[in-house]
Amino acid sequence: MQYVPTLPNYTEQDHQVWAALYARQWPLMDEQASSIFLKNFPKLELDPQRLPDPLEVSERLDRLTGWTLADAQNEYLNPEEWFEHITARRFPVTNYIRGPHELDFTPMPDLFHEYFGHLGFFADRRFADIAQAFGPLFLHGDERQRLEISRLWWFTLEFGLIREGGKLKAFGAGLLSSPGELQKAFAPETPRLEFDVRTAATTASAVYEMHNVYFILEDLEHVLKIMQDYAEMEGLPQPKLK
Ligand SMILES: [Fe+2]
Repeated sequence: MQYVPTLPNYTEQDHQVWAALYARQWPLMDEQASSIFLKNFPKLELDPQRLPDPLEVSERLDRLTGWTLADAQNEYLNPEEWFEHITARRFPVTNYIRGPHELDFTPMPDLFHEYFGHLGFFADRRFADIAQAFGPLFLHGDERQRLEISRLWWFTLEFGLIREGGKLKAFGAGLLSSPGELQKAFAPETPRLEFDVRTAATTASAVYEMHNVYFILEDLEHVLKIMQDYAEMEGLPQPKLK
């Protein structure tokens, strides 16, 4: 299996979609994104105008936190493959970028989601170590536990909100990379719940549409605590950080 991302053949329209998404999202981040994103995203040195080169970003990330990028070959990986990559500190990325008509929301995880939404966090050492712990936790689980552990990942790293300085900020990559979902997560009528492990573990995740409920993290360490609590509840080995 090849773990080095292949060099993509982007079109000029692809670059324009990236530039348009970047130009829309970046100005919202100061007010709405977690400080972990704000502090670490610039370390990736992405070009706001041009799509990133996966090999360059992979090398940069490797130097920062020992994570590299894996080629997800523009398909949904099954959860086992996904969490095997996570265990090995490899973040799967696609070469796919949404079309110009999907700027607000795309059901396929595209590379704007991955690079803009996720990778800034993986440039943070503590986040990088905590995120890796999801891998072994998942791989130790039975079928039900695996589904529940993917939901815990989903409602923290993909769609979580986080409290910072008494305010709610966007923590999940799916919020940072989707103008529509970011707006929905902060809308007055949207339910936002304190993170309860059992509730999140049994809430179905929405892949092809926006969510109806979001969960709030107290801080980054809360993500680790969620894994520890789940492991204890379910008799699974406690997560160990490298
Ligand atoms: Fe994601």
